[in-house]
Amino acid sequence: MSNTSDSTRKRYNRIARFFKITESLMEKGKMSLWRKAVWNEANGKVLEVGVGTGKNIQYYPESVEVSAIDFSEKMLEFAREKASIYGKKVDLRLMDVQALDFADETFDTIITTCVFCSVPDPIKGLKELKRVCKKDGQIIMLEHVRSKKPLVGIIMDLLNPIVVRIVGANINRNTIENLKQSNINVKIEKDLMLDIVKHLKCSI
Ligand SMILES: C[S@@+](CC[C@H](N)C(=O)[O-])C[C@H]1O[C@@H](n2cnc3c(N)ncnc32)[C@H](O)[C@@H]1O
Repeated sequence: MSNTSDSTRKRYNRIARFFKITESLMEKGKMSLWRKAVWNEANGKVLEVGVGTGKNIQYYPESVEVSAIDFSEKMLEFAREKASIYGKKVDLRLMDVQALDFADETFDTIITTCVFCSVPDPIKGLKELKRVCKKDGQIIMLEHVRSKKPLVGIIMDLLNPIVVRIVGANINRNTIENLKQSNINVKIEKDLMLDIVKHLKCSI
């Protein structure tokens, strides 16, 4: 694991409890509706990447079989608790999305929510998603990205180092461009909040 990956992983281990404590606050408003919308699109064998404290687990449809990974052990501990609270069967594994331990073309659906802002090498991670996704599969993402509005974009650039330090997330990631560079096709790009929070449907 690279130094950057190791420090990001350690940061998430440190702040896992903060995520857990603040989650009811962060889930207020539209976030839970957006999560539901994403999970309504899941089918077949599903991979959730960067499961975190397991905020999505309650929305897993009964009809799908889910494997969920995270590279932070502490985050996974909270996700395990969630799975048991909601009585969901989920194969939770400690794994780095930049080096997935799954065979090529394993999953029908891959879901990420607020993950590619923090993956240390996003292109490497996205290429791994492409590899483990079936050829007729789908990648569905709920991600925040850098705004294309010049002033807002510059403010996001300026605030980025502070936000990374506090919550580990880069608020100025250009995930759409990263998807293109990884040869993943963005079929639907829906703006949920300004041009910052997006629901993306991709094919490979
Ligand atoms: C901001 S949290 C989002 C958690 C969850 N998806 C949600 O919607 O609440 C980002 C998560 O991605 C995980 N993560 C970041 N980089 C990763 C990587 N390279 N491999 C696996 N998980 C990673 C972090 O450990 C953290 O749990």
